[in-house]
Amino acid sequence: MITLSGIQKIYRMGETEVHALKTVDLHIAEGEFVAIIGSSGSGKSTLMNILGCLDTPTHGVYELDGQQVQSLSERQLALVRNRKIGFVFQNFYLLSRQTILRNVELPMVYGGIDKTSRIKRAKELLEKVGLGTRLTHKPSELSGGQRQRVAIARALSMQPSILLADEPTGNLDTKTSHEIMALFSQLNDEGVTVILVTHEPDIAEQTKRILRFGDGRLLEDRANDRRVSV
Ligand SMILES: Nc1ncnc2c1ncn2[C@@H]1O[C@H](COP(=O)(O)OP(=O)(O)OP(=O)(O)O)[C@@H](O)[C@H]1O
Ligand SMILES: [Mg+2]
Repeated sequence: MITLSGIQKIYRMGETEVHALKTVDLHIAEGEFVAIIGSSGSGKSTLMNILGCLDTPTHGVYELDGQQVQSLSERQLALVRNRKIGFVFQNFYLLSRQTILRNVELPMVYGGIDKTSRIKRAKELLEKVGLGTRLTHKPSELSGGQRQRVAIARALSMQPSILLADEPTGNLDTKTSHEIMALFSQLNDEGVTVILVTHEPDIAEQTKRILRFGDGRLLEDRANDRRVSV
């Protein structure tokens, strides 16, 4: 479903150029559970932004479900982001003044889903992530782990086939991190392709495939046969 061929990303800042990605070739099939690791500045977030159609490569071809992403218009890209991809970030990025129900409902507003179905689905998702009794709470009234669950519920609202998470456990303690990983693992069992970035080796070990980046290159790509399930 995801094929990257000769992907490069160059950031130009005045006179200087930063080669954030240097010729990345990669295939990720439907249903995979992948961790991306590597030192700070190695290009992990740059890659995630390209995978999520939030940014475009300077060179190379990104094919998503047989479509070349660079050939899509802004409007088509927005549609791909809304329909195919769910995002989860380290800092949650929830709307602080809205209830968590509304936070989960919002992508479905943009997705053109009618109100009754939106609310039904938002409730179901919040129940699924264990927050069914907190629907009218605001994010500030929840713990970090609970906020990340809201973000995951929101990411799932449009039933994406791909879930992208950039350091989703970066702000969470160990126990809460493992709970979030158990949720990702469950979603992957249900068929969602999950790709996450992490700094923590024990988080990466819970996925099925580990990609290690260094200085903009894919240095290692291994199946994780010793997977630690949670
Ligand atoms: N918008 C930008 N403009 C210029 N340079 C950028 C930009 N975003 C990232 N870079 C540079 O590209 C390189 C890769 O950055 P990236 O954010 O992908 O790293 P990362 O692997 O996610 O690091 P971290 O683990 O610290 O999050 C870095 O050298 C960074 O400084
Ligand atoms: Mg990063």
